[in-house]
Amino acid sequence: MKYLRWNDSYSVGIDAVDFEHQTLIEMINMIYAELDDRRDIDEIRRTVADVHTEISAHFALEERIMRDGHYDEYEAHKNDHEELLDQIRTMMDAIENDGEAALEMLSEQLADWFSAHFATFDARMHSKFGPSH
Ligand SMILES: [Fe+2]
Ligand SMILES: [Fe+2]
Repeated sequence: MKYLRWNDSYSVGIDAVDFEHQTLIEMINMIYAELDDRRDIDEIRRTVADVHTEISAHFALEERIMRDGHYDEYEAHKNDHEELLDQIRTMMDAIENDGEAALEMLSEQLADWFSAHFATFDARMHSKFGPSH
């Protein structure tokens, strides 16, 4: 299981965003921990649904910051967010059918997606809105 670890390079320099990134990492790790503990599939499914809600709220915050700041790559960044939300919804359906195999795939995808998104889209946002730009 690929646990995510907070790393200072993930910091975008906007306190509310950094705080939410740390919360998201903790919540995603919770899915992994529940999988490792072989918790009941319905319990894990509820955690995934909570993570989906939290991620949607986080994306809404970032999108508002970008809109307010007339950010030049707003569309591309928002599209990347929407792709992930779609993927999670697709996987939530797959979990209904395949159970654990789909859950493990989802957790891998979440870890890969967040590491890549933090390092590219969110890092670029930092270069525009963070304190040291
Ligand atoms: Fe983002
Ligand atoms: Fe983000």
